[in-house]
Amino acid sequence: MKRYMITGGAGFIGSNLIKLLLKLDVDCEVVNFDSLTYAGNLESLRELEYHPRYKFVKGDVTDRAGVLDAMEGCDGVFHLAAESHVDRSILDPGPFLSTNVIGTQMMLDAAREHNIKRYLQVSTDEVYGSLSLDDPAFTETNLLKPNSPYSASKAAADLLVRSYVKTYDFPGIITRCSNNYGPYQFPEKIIPLFLNNLQHDKPVPVYGDGQQIRDWIYVEDHCRALIKVMKSGSIGDIYNIGGNCEMKNLDMVKMLLKALDKPESLIKYVTDRPGHDRRYAMDNSKIEAELGWKPQHSFSKALPKTIEWYRDNEAWVNSIISGDYLEYYEQQYSNR
Ligand code: NAD
Ligand code: TYD
Repeated sequence: MKRYMITGGAGFIGSNLIKLLLKLDVDCEVVNFDSLTYAGNLESLRELEYHPRYKFVKGDVTDRAGVLDAMEGCDGVFHLAAESHVDRSILDPGPFLSTNVIGTQMMLDAAREHNIKRYLQVSTDEVYGSLSLDDPAFTETNLLKPNSPYSASKAAADLLVRSYVKTYDFPGIITRCSNNYGPYQFPEKIIPLFLNNLQHDKPVPVYGDGQQIRDWIYVEDHCRALIKVMKSGSIGDIYNIGGNCEMKNLDMVKMLLKALDKPESLIKYVTDRPGHDRRYAMDNSKIEAELGWKPQHSFSKALPKTIEWYRDNEAWVNSIISGDYLEYYEQQYSNR
């Protein structure tokens, strides 16, 4: 029986990953380590409450003693815990540096101390910066050119992992994924935010001209890739993970409107995000060739599934739209 520690397991990707891992690998146990920030929600894991191979530990990745304790007896670590929203990082970079950088150092030190066999750093395409329309997609050898405090903190964490691999012969692997969508995503990211607004006939705030391009991946495809990399990825390597699905924000928003049968008059153009990256695109050649992974879900099929999930789980959305979140929404979108 292998035991995995998953940090940030009460968040969007983490909660999807835990369920998939427990289902696909019946010979593993999972320790979910999460401090339950505004983005962490145990409701997303309710079905696992009494699962014999699952355990939740409330703790902060910046707390050395707590991390060391929870990691005891683990074979592998998936490190996902992070402050993850670009707009929040623009309002206040502090928590991003603390959780994403210092938290990663704590994780790495604890993993060394416990002689962890495989350590996966879950990172993002945003560390590469922004592409022009005619640039080729990002490969693992692109330079790191982050443009937001969020992506800078993730890039710093990636570089720390690299340094531990080189300096201490540490068994680290880095994955960098594109924009995820699917069930249990916090409604501050564009797809769940817009679905929630449209459900209530509220306008959807499109930043700038809406011509920015993102490469969308269904969260289950990302989680399958993470499991594959944990099991068979090469130590010290980096793997890009993308959805092969580049789309302009405005085109994506129009698809949402169409699917919900809402008028385009609900689109509200608002002031652009400062330092807004124009285009992300991922080249998946390496993970396809080395590990035989490919995204299995097309946007046209997985978007309706996602919409249906949010429709059926309005209680989940309402349960996490707390007072704190409404305060953030006001700060972010009023006078814009
Ligand atoms: P999320 O914001 O939904 O979840 C983050 C989780 O981390 C939450 O449960 C939160 O409580 C927990 N957390 C935050 N600070 C913590 C701390 N100090 N100690 C312990 N737990 C803490 O994020 P997500 O979208 O699920 O992203 C997970 C990871 O994947 C992040 O590292 C992110 O950078 C990366 N990633 C996300 C995307 C995406 O599209 N969402 C794409 C590529 C990579
Ligand atoms: P987001 O979901 O925040 O992810 P990321 O910034 O990590 O790519 O945003 C996706 C795209 O949608 C990005 O180009 C910013 C844009 N966006 C809007 O136009 N309006 C919004 O209200 C939000 C949250 C994002």
